[in-house]
Amino acid sequence: MTAQVIDGRAVAQAVRIELRERTRRLRARGIVPGLAVLIVGDDPASAVYVRQKTRACEEVGVHAEVHAFPADVAQAVVVQRIRELNDDPRIHGMIVQLPLPAHLEIRPILESIAVAKDVDGFHLYNVGALVIGHGDSVFPPCTPYGVMRLLEHAGIAIEGQNAVVVGASNIVGKPMGLMLLQRGATVSICHIKTRDLAQFTVLADILVVAAGCPNLIRPDMVKPGAVVIDVGINRLPDGRVVGDVDFASVKDKAGFITPVPGGVGPMTVAMLIRNTVRAAERVAGSIEPDEVEEALSGEP
Ligand code: GUN
Repeated sequence: MTAQVIDGRAVAQAVRIELRERTRRLRARGIVPGLAVLIVGDDPASAVYVRQKTRACEEVGVHAEVHAFPADVAQAVVVQRIRELNDDPRIHGMIVQLPLPAHLEIRPILESIAVAKDVDGFHLYNVGALVIGHGDSVFPPCTPYGVMRLLEHAGIAIEGQNAVVVGASNIVGKPMGLMLLQRGATVSICHIKTRDLAQFTVLADILVVAAGCPNLIRPDMVKPGAVVIDVGINRLPDGRVVGDVDFASVKDKAGFITPVPGGVGPMTVAMLIRNTVRAAERVAGSIEPDEVEEALSGEP
């Protein structure tokens, strides 16, 4: 079997086209959706991600501004800027690019973002809303939400399926597990301390891998015909970018697979813009339905 490759670039492009139209309607009413991105230090990968995010915003007509701080910035300075942005009516969404330097405390920084502007969905309130399945009222974290959108696009049924998530981060693994659970999957979340990872992954109808470990998943760890979603973005010493899944060999065993690059990555950016446009629509009092919305609804 050769897997069907899910083209994240194409799906993200379709989402951006829809968002451009929604942005046009907001602009016609005098509202320009605005995103502020805070970045601390000079991590090269973070700089690339931030550039991708701001460029994609501009393409859709969303105002994006970057607030850059030196690596040794004081916690209070970052929090003060967030407070100012909370009060800035031009800004509808705000994110703090992670990771942060070790001297900064992540939680107080994320909790100082106004819930209504937390378009990364990392504030405790939004995390809690995700846990109890309050789909409509939250900003879903962009990467797992992008994965849900890809699964929908590929017509993959989730209810009753065995879903295995590899990686238990707050950004991807945990919210991914919650979203799949919300849609009725039986979910296992594996992590660095999991004994015999393959024992879990071979049971997966849907396997989402977000471990940050190049080529971790080999064909013998995959159920024939499984849906394999690769969230990993790893740069090898020779400069090549690869995922967490050995794409070349696993594609002959899986039913569906996402490539790296060109799979989940573009969806993360598209969902960030979607959350920002939605935040602006909320302020405007005219939330528009989007295809992605169903991804969080429905009880297990
Ligand atoms: N670092 C890696 N992924 C993300 C993300 O989705 N949002 C933010 N803010 N930082 C990240």
